[in-house]
Amino acid sequence: MASIEIRDLVKTYTDARGNQTRVLDGIDLTLSGETFTSVVGPSGSGKTTLLNIVSGIEPHTSGTVDLTSQGRDAKVGYVFQDPRLLPWRTVMANLGFVQDGRSGWQERARHYLDLVGLPHVEGRFPAQLSGGQQQRIGIARAFSVEPDVLLMDEPFSHLDAMTSRSLREHLERIWLESRRTVMFVTHDVTEAVQLSDRIVVLAPGGRVHEVIDVDLPRPRRASDPAVAVLQAEVLARFEALEAATGAAAPVAVAR
Ligand SMILES: Nc1ncnc2c1ncn2[C@@H]1O[C@H](COP(=O)(O)OP(=O)(O)OP(=O)(O)O)[C@@H](O)[C@H]1O
Ligand SMILES: [Mg+2]
Repeated sequence: MASIEIRDLVKTYTDARGNQTRVLDGIDLTLSGETFTSVVGPSGSGKTTLLNIVSGIEPHTSGTVDLTSQGRDAKVGYVFQDPRLLPWRTVMANLGFVQDGRSGWQERARHYLDLVGLPHVEGRFPAQLSGGQQQRIGIARAFSVEPDVLLMDEPFSHLDAMTSRSLREHLERIWLESRRTVMFVTHDVTEAVQLSDRIVVLAPGGRVHEVIDVDLPRPRRASDPAVAVLQAEVLARFEALEAATGAAAPVAVAR
């Protein structure tokens, strides 16, 4: 079982004049096992910084971050905001590019292409696919390495409402099948409710404002009234946080 343990995490940026800005201020979080955790928060609250520190892309100032799986370092997968496929490689070659030398990767790749609903595109180049299809390839690519921990930074925010809705359903299906420890950053509170077991709300200044458990049966449909009720409740709490802190409004679109 994998886990992400974040203890008293602080991140301070220092500008050219030596002025320091603290953007994460003592984050304590544990994400473990087969849980899907979303991180939401107003713009500038430190979501991307937190994810980048967890992934190792960004150094932190103090505190600790440990990603482990069965007593060893966890294998990490990352789904970016844009798909970042190599344009000169076919879909299959793009998936092959990230493999770690284990045998049988072609079967795994085909399995995840199936799960994202794209079983027939392995010989195509990225330019021959729509933006939403490319993002699905990005998701299949991340799952195909069978990471212990999957990190995602607003993977659907560039897509239109219908495409992102269908991708959320694909993502839930693929996650239900493979059950990774997921940390998913989003602006969109409604998306967080639909996908998550837990929602971590960051407040401006980079503190954990609250953690909300989402106890709804899966698979979830956006049209399910129970989903809609919880979405409205979490959105109302989010708006209260914004009103209290004067933060910019998040993008929270009812679908
Ligand atoms: N390289 C950097 N140097 C200085 N400050 C930075 C840097 N990167 C981010 N920041 C600041 O850190 C804070 C958190 O930024 P971050 O990108 O993590 O926020 P976010 O919650 O992901 O916002 P958004 O929802 O707009 O994507 C912001 O105030 C931002 O201006
Ligand atoms: Mg961000």
